[in-house]
Amino acid sequence: IGEEIPYPYEVIQESAEYLLSGTRHRPKIGVICGSGLGGLADQLDERDVFPYESIPNFPVSTVVGHAGRMVIGLLSGVPVMCMQGRFHAYEGYPLWKCAMPVRVMKLMGVEQIIVTNAAGGLNPGFKVGDIMIIKDHINMQGFAGDSPLRGRNDERFGPRFPAMNNAYDKNLRDMAKKIVADMNLSDVVQEGVYVMLGGPTYETVAELKLLRVVGVDAVGMSTVPEVVVARHCGMKVFAFSLITNQCIMQYDTDATANHEEVIEVADKRKKDLQELACRLIVKMAVV
Ligand code: 6GU
Repeated sequence: IGEEIPYPYEVIQESAEYLLSGTRHRPKIGVICGSGLGGLADQLDERDVFPYESIPNFPVSTVVGHAGRMVIGLLSGVPVMCMQGRFHAYEGYPLWKCAMPVRVMKLMGVEQIIVTNAAGGLNPGFKVGDIMIIKDHINMQGFAGDSPLRGRNDERFGPRFPAMNNAYDKNLRDMAKKIVADMNLSDVVQEGVYVMLGGPTYETVAELKLLRVVGVDAVGMSTVPEVVVARHCGMKVFAFSLITNQCIMQYDTDATANHEEVIEVADKRKKDLQELACRLIVKMAVV
C-alpha cells in the first residue's frame, strides 16, 4: 500500500469535457459554496445540474448540509459554475483530491474563483454573523509537509514552486469592500487571516491561544487546498469566511463549538452572502 497519486492532466480533462458537453454555458467564474452559500447555486438561471457521483473521476462528498453537486448556469446573466458542497480533508480525502474540482474548472476555462467557508472567529473584535474577507492564510498542512501540490508537477497546470503572496487578489477585495458599503454591511464585514486545520475536532484552548499569537483571525477546516491549487494554475481568488461562532478561549466554560450553531448562523446570513457574491460576480465579469 502506498499513497494515491494525484490525477494526471488527462483524467482532469475527462471530467472537464464531460461537464462541457453537458452544458451550453462557458463559465469563466467559479464558486465553491461553503456552509451558508449553497443557496447561491439554486439561484442560477438556465442551470445544468451535475451530481458529483455523475461526473467522471469526481470524489463523492459525505457531510450532511452539503448537497454534493456542480451547478452551471447564469447569475444576473453571467455564466458561473458553483460547487454546492465541497470535499474536506477530515472526510478522508488527500488534499489534492479536495482541490481536484478547481483543476476541472480551470480546464473548462474558469479564470476567477470565489471560495467561501464557515469559520470560528478568533479575533476578539469579530462577532457571530460577521463576514471576513480573507486577506491571507496560514497553510498549517503545508508547515507539516503536506500540500495539494505534493508530488510530480505538471507544468500544464502551473510551476513547481508557485508564489503564494498576493494569493487573495487585492483588486477583488477592494471591489468587495465597495459592494458591502453599498449594501450597508460595512459594520459586519472584517478582513483577516484564515487558518485551515485538519479537523474534524474543534480546537483546544491552548491551540487557539497559539493561533492567536501567530496572527490568525478565523479558524476553519477548508479553503486553503482549493486556493493553493487555484493560484498554482493562475486563477484570481476571492475568499470569505462567515464567522459562525466565537472560538472559546476560556477554560472555565460549558460553551462548546458545534455544527448546529454553524448551520443556524449560516442560515441567518445567507441572503446577505448570496447578494454579496452575486454583486461581486457581476463586477468580476466586466474585467
Ligand atoms: Cl471554532 N474551528 C474550526 N476549525 N472550524 C470551524 C469553527 C471552529 N467554527 C466553524 N468552523
